Amino acid sequence: LTINNDKEVQARGGTTLLRNLFESKYFIPSACGGKGTCGYCKLIVTEGGGSILPTEELMLSSAEKKQGYRLTCQLKVKNNLKLHIPEEYLNIQEYEGKIVISDPVTSDIRRVGIALSTEDEITYKPGQYVQIKIPGSGESDYRAYSMSSCPDEKKQIEINVKLIPDGVGSGYIHSLSVGDKLDFSGPYGDFYLREDSHRDIICVAGGVGLAPIKSILLHWQRHNLNRTLWLFYGARSTEDLYDHEIFAELDEREAGLKYFPALSEPDEDWTGKSGFIHSVMDKALPGDVNGEAYLCGPPIMIDAVTEVLVSKGVSDERIWYDKF
Ligand SMILES: Cc1cc2nc3c(=O)[nH]c(=O)nc-3n(C[C@H](O)[C@H](O)[C@H](O)COP(=O)(O)OP(=O)(O)OC[C@H]3O[C@@H](n4cnc5c(N)ncnc54)[C@H](O)[C@@H]3O)c2cc1C
Ligand code: FES
Repeated sequence: LTINNDKEVQARGGTTLLRNLFESKYFIPSACGGKGTCGYCKLIVTEGGGSILPTEELMLSSAEKKQGYRLTCQLKVKNNLKLHIPEEYLNIQEYEGKIVISDPVTSDIRRVGIALSTEDEITYKPGQYVQIKIPGSGESDYRAYSMSSCPDEKKQIEINVKLIPDGVGSGYIHSLSVGDKLDFSGPYGDFYLREDSHRDIICVAGGVGLAPIKSILLHWQRHNLNRTLWLFYGARSTEDLYDHEIFAELDEREAGLKYFPALSEPDEDWTGKSGFIHSVMDKALPGDVNGEAYLCGPPIMIDAVTEVLVSKGVSDERIWYDKF
């Protein structure tokens, strides 16, 4: 493989380009673990890639195809290849971590603290994610998890992991105990707080989508950012609204925080807002808000919230999201 017209690395024929790159310590975003469904692993291949495969078609726009983009998790190496890896991917590193916290926060979500080995530090932006190596799962052996910790904590990260029935990655992480080791790489992703503006920060979280939003909030608080932060946090029931006490307490202390928790299936003793988070936001957010938005949660929530934001004049290019 010739990378960026500069480096040459030996590849294993018959194996995907993505796997070859990982084996040579080039870490490419691959949030779906190589299943061809996230589209994150695309890179420009300038020579030797052959024709685009049917399994790549859906994830590549016609403009990307013209530019030479390929889904590296689908493309198998059969001959010499020339490719381009963007500069920002070259800073992604591999880490060995040790579990230091593994606490259930709801019936299916665990808060997991991972300490880096003593000589390591990780530098990331609030909102970004890591990819955890899932042992023994063959080609699709990485899963993406957003950091919920404040990026100032460079020696330990925290993630929140929702257990998916029969889920390989979430099942593995839920099975780990304090003291166990795991491998991961990062940081990844362009979902992170933009700091070159004075606009209001509108954060919307659904369920475990709270993780990267919490990182943004902790960073905002730690650095006393002089911007109003709107936090809309939706969950099904009180039991699912984890970390609510932390935000409620912050809401009391921080004049710049406007916190709106809401339950879609409220319990009898819930005195807060009820309904889907996009409706709650629609009522609470003024029409003339000068804001930029960070959304994380299930696709259906992201779509509904985006519609409300656009109706309030927040343009598409000021809305960032991670859907999962
Ligand atoms: C950028 C990014 C950040 C992410 N951050 C987080 C995070 O902070 N916390 C977190 O818990 N997850 C996060 N995810 C999702 C995570 O990467 C995995 O996709 C998730 O844990 C499922 O992986 P698994 O291996 O357990 O399930 P798999 O073994 O991959 O899937 C098992 C089965 O469950 C289905 N399935 C997969 N996901 C879901 C779902 N959400 N609901 C219902 N069925 C599903 C699959 O289609 C399959 O049939 C993130 C994803 C992305 C892309
Ligand atoms: S499409 Fe997800 S890793 Fe390739």
